[in-house]
Amino acid sequence: MRKTKKMLVIALAAVLLLILTGCGNSADKAPEGKSAEPSVGTRQDSASAERAEGQGKALVVYFSRTGEQYTVGVIDKGNTAIVAEMIAGQTGADLFEIVPADDHYPMTYDALTDVARKEQREKARPAYAGTLPDPGGYDTVFIGAPVWWGDWPMIMYTVFENNDFSGKKLVPFSTHEGSGLSGFDRKLAAACKDARVLEGLAVRGNDCQNRQDKVKESVSQWLGSLGY
Ligand SMILES: Cc1cc2nc3c(=O)[nH]c(=O)nc-3n(C[C@H](O)[C@H](O)[C@H](O)COP(=O)(O)O)c2cc1C
Repeated sequence: MRKTKKMLVIALAAVLLLILTGCGNSADKAPEGKSAEPSVGTRQDSASAERAEGQGKALVVYFSRTGEQYTVGVIDKGNTAIVAEMIAGQTGADLFEIVPADDHYPMTYDALTDVARKEQREKARPAYAGTLPDPGGYDTVFIGAPVWWGDWPMIMYTVFENNDFSGKKLVPFSTHEGSGLSGFDRKLAAACKDARVLEGLAVRGNDCQNRQDKVKESVSQWLGSLGY
């Protein structure tokens, strides 16, 4: 009986020693105050990066204006540019900004609405600077712009008509102040008949400037629904 008790004490002491010295490698230990576990964000990023790889190569093409914008005053980064960068950041896509070849767009809101209205009435096809990366090198092209008078800005039709998107997955996104997606998906499908248009996303322009966490969340959810 005394022998059993002694063995029990030795066993308990051994267990205690193991606990005190730690079973794992000390290199695995987190610095004080930090967790060794990756943060939720890190885990989501690597998981979505893996899923993004499965989706093939993606390109984000967008048009966006700085200067005076509706409800947000004068901005130095456009609302649509903010969403475009979030999409590229979460999918690893390349980015291409549509910049007018001749930038005749005024920096004040009222004057800009007049120019945009005139272009729409005239079905103008303003030229853009540079050359879009060949869509043939991509599986998916995200295409975004602000809603202008309930439609894509006319310069985006120049993009749709001057590039070959056949066989591509096209994903529209808009920023707006009440009109939502404004039929961007339907109009894109009509302009690029041999492409497959997927579910789009509409984001309030004001949120892009003032509630970026909320916008990031909507972008993540939407990308998740698309398989990213
Ligand atoms: C010329 C013009 C027309 C606009 N028309 C609409 C519209 O029809 N519906 C709407 O909800 N917002 C409209 N807006 C607001 C913009 O869509 C919104 O401010 C957008 O986020 C601007 O994006 P950006 O900063 O990327 O250019 C218009 C803005 C401008 C400048």
